[in-house]
Amino acid sequence: MTFLELAKRRYSSRNYQDKPVEKELLLQVMEAGRIAPSAKNKQPWHFVAITEHDALARIRDCYDEPWLESAKAIIVVCGDHRDAWRRADGKIHTNMDVAIAVDHMTLAATDLGLATCWICKFDVMKCVKMLDLPDGVEPMVLLPIGYAADEVDPNRHEQLRKPIKEVVHWEKFFYKPFKR
Ligand SMILES: Cc1cc2nc3c(=O)[nH]c(=O)nc-3n(C[C@H](O)[C@H](O)[C@H](O)COP(=O)(O)O)c2cc1C
Repeated sequence: MTFLELAKRRYSSRNYQDKPVEKELLLQVMEAGRIAPSAKNKQPWHFVAITEHDALARIRDCYDEPWLESAKAIIVVCGDHRDAWRRADGKIHTNMDVAIAVDHMTLAATDLGLATCWICKFDVMKCVKMLDLPDGVEPMVLLPIGYAADEVDPNRHEQLRKPIKEVVHWEKFFYKPFKR
């Protein structure tokens, strides 16, 4: 499988089989996050893998959508603002670094035959309390991982993404409104 084929195969799954995910596979997914690049190699992230029944129920309670019930494993990806690179203009790079790590993880999971879904629309304070996170450590993404019980059209990007001409600019930015 080429990289583009793998990237196209990844999608947001919101329905998982009633089948636990092997810890070894979860570890491989977190290994893909661990080796991700980060600004100044600061690696400002922590991966909290939730697999046990009660803890899963508490994490699901941080998110309003019932589909998360089907997830048998959720990795809470936390950004450590205390540890992230700060540029001279003050911009802290935690968000960018964590996004790269999560992208590595979603692609690694896809490669292992697993499915994932980024979740950012969750109750952050509830999650902080549940995991007893220290100041400066922010839960940024809930990443359910499991065996998909749904499927998507592998050619969906043709309809669901902006056309390449709209987003690629050669040599200079050229703004041209596109009709959809
Ligand atoms: C930063 C980010 C946050 C997201 N948050 C949520 C979320 O809270 N709930 C959800 O169901 N999907 C969420 N998604 C999934 C997107 O809706 C999805 O990636 C997008 O519609 C493209 O679909 P695809 O992932 O199947 O290609 C999020 C995706 C990203 C990258």
